[in-house]
Amino acid sequence: MRLPASRFAIRSPLTSLVPALGTVLLAACLCSASAQTALVVEDPYREAFRPQIHFSPREKWMNDPNGLVYVHGVYHLFFQYYPHGTTWGPMHWGHATSRDLLHWRQQPIALYPDSLGYIFSGSAVVDSNNTSGFGRNGKIPLVAIFTHHDPEGEKKGASNYQNESIAYSLDEGKTWVKYRHNPVLKNPGIKDFRDPKVIWYAPGNKWVMSLATKDRISFFSSADLKNWKKESEFGADKGAHGGVWECPDLFPLTFDGKTWWVLFVSINPGGPNGGSGTQYFIGQFDGSRFTPADEQTKWIDYGPDDYAGVTWSNTGNRRIFLGWMSNWNYANEVPTRSWRNAMTLPRELRLRKEDNTVFLCSQPVKELNALKLHPPAALPDSGASQYIAGFRADATKDFSIVLSNAAGESLTIGFDKASDRYYIDRRHAGLAAFHQGFAATSYAPRLTRDSKATLTLVVDAASAELFADGGLTVMTSIFFPAKPLGRISLHSASPDGIRQVSWSELKSIW
Ligand code: FRU
Repeated sequence: MRLPASRFAIRSPLTSLVPALGTVLLAACLCSASAQTALVVEDPYREAFRPQIHFSPREKWMNDPNGLVYVHGVYHLFFQYYPHGTTWGPMHWGHATSRDLLHWRQQPIALYPDSLGYIFSGSAVVDSNNTSGFGRNGKIPLVAIFTHHDPEGEKKGASNYQNESIAYSLDEGKTWVKYRHNPVLKNPGIKDFRDPKVIWYAPGNKWVMSLATKDRISFFSSADLKNWKKESEFGADKGAHGGVWECPDLFPLTFDGKTWWVLFVSINPGGPNGGSGTQYFIGQFDGSRFTPADEQTKWIDYGPDDYAGVTWSNTGNRRIFLGWMSNWNYANEVPTRSWRNAMTLPRELRLRKEDNTVFLCSQPVKELNALKLHPPAALPDSGASQYIAGFRADATKDFSIVLSNAAGESLTIGFDKASDRYYIDRRHAGLAAFHQGFAATSYAPRLTRDSKATLTLVVDAASAELFADGGLTVMTSIFFPAKPLGRISLHSASPDGIRQVSWSELKSIW
């Protein structure tokens, strides 16, 4: 159940062999009698497979979203970042900001590794009451809570090399000061002790930290973000345990006039389609203890490519989710050139009841509508690389949506009535040899008995996100086609089994 040692082992960065994209290439051009020098500037955001509506770093390696926090009209996205290579390496917190969750501007690196170790995943909060005392001259501090991972301790075989630390910013995330007395939460001897997600628990007038501790989530509380007291543990005997527990999130959502608490737990391996996946529990939290309302194992996204997702803090009644659109099975090998890995679309979360069980529903944030190109084309055979499409289907029969291109590649998204499952088949969708097992079909259960299915599909250069049944079942899958999969064809076992009700190409965010 432990992370394979290689997960956090540093590989020799390939980047030294690959010219960094975004650099200016000087090409000797011998096209006229007198040799001239031509300046060729390559646009890094037009590189093959570069997502056009999803955040990806301008260059180098990225994994988990971190420190998601909304401050004065700006969404902050920090992320696990290795600025010196395109494979996982000593972790920093990269930083990007956006006013609409879609157009991102990459900012200078926020947190660098130091004598206590690499900067692993964590969260950020607005400390409005200055409980930490880091505020000065009326400036409200932003406080980041993260894991310090000490690679030396790991190498020596210690068991306490992951500890929780804090840093603060008085200029809205531009610059950060690490707390002098880090770490603030010391490891009692549990190898996997990481990824603190902190919320303000108003009824108890205290901060609550959810921390992944090997095979369970441990909850801690604090009045000042510096002194932490253990409250309880959850999950050693609940949910999926095919791998180590990582990246929790805990937050309330109102539904049917009642407050429910949602707990996310990412797990790797052991996801629903192999490798990485994020399960969730819904129940009650009393400031100290989490109690699930049912025993069903549920997944935020059943596709292979949505991991380590968490939600923004400080967004009022909105609950907005962002995941890392990859899978540890192959994240280090995907065939992009100057950068590796992107985030999912930001998604708004709601609750819904099916057969007396409460489920989470995800939908792309409404801000995505602003990217729609008008007028929308009616029958897409467009060669478009990024688009959104809506479908209605008869879920009493099989149906499928085939996305294809002129190179003969295709991605099939469908419903199999016999097993009552949605699926995404990427076996013929482009490059796959970089990882054995990448060319596969992934499956997800249909969670409603409604005979009509509504589907929203968002396609980008190298990804498809399916929101079925109002977001009750979500599947995200990445793929690497030679040309955009801009052609859509519909197939069904009954004459009117599936129809397309909307389609719009989306403007690039870059
Ligand atoms: C999840 C994860 C976290 C860890 C980080 C390291 O993908 O393994 O548990 O903090 O990545 O980059």
